[in-house]
Amino acid sequence: MVTGPLAGDAMKLNVNGVEHVVEPEGERPLLAVLREDLGLTGTKFGCGEGQCGACTVHLDGAPIRSCLTPARGVGSGKITTIEGLAKDGKLHPLQQTFLDAGAMQCAYCTSGMIMSGAALLATNADPSDEQIVEFMDGNICRCGVYSRILAAIKGAAARIRSEGA
Ligand code: FES
Ligand code: FES
Repeated sequence: MVTGPLAGDAMKLNVNGVEHVVEPEGERPLLAVLREDLGLTGTKFGCGEGQCGACTVHLDGAPIRSCLTPARGVGSGKITTIEGLAKDGKLHPLQQTFLDAGAMQCAYCTSGMIMSGAALLATNADPSDEQIVEFMDGNICRCGVYSRILAAIKGAAARIRSEGA
């Protein structure tokens, strides 16, 4: 917890439950602050234009494109990155089913896929294939392992329903 007044351009940023003090100038993207200032390199830079989803993180549980989101725009919102998705030393069900299904080739898209998929499952633990495809439409996999990604999301949904994970 950071207390006391902040100097200059400094602002607080809550990431994975930890409050950091950062000094993002102007419109500097959240993605740059996460990767370069906080060392959270699990979130990837893909297109930088909001088109690929590689940079997806959660803001108060909702998926956002961190490449297009100015860090200053986050305010007091809570950011979750792939590094913060596991709880109590246990992988999120979707992290586990991505591993189980081998839902990656180069894995560059994987953290963004998992963050988007986790946001879907948080609001719909029984999505149809069509709902999954529609929700994940903005996440691009250049290696084309979409069928395994779909299987991983369906597997995680089943696990969440059965375990209440
Ligand atoms: S890097 Fe953000 S959407 Fe592609
Ligand atoms: S696994 Fe390579 S981009 Fe998706």
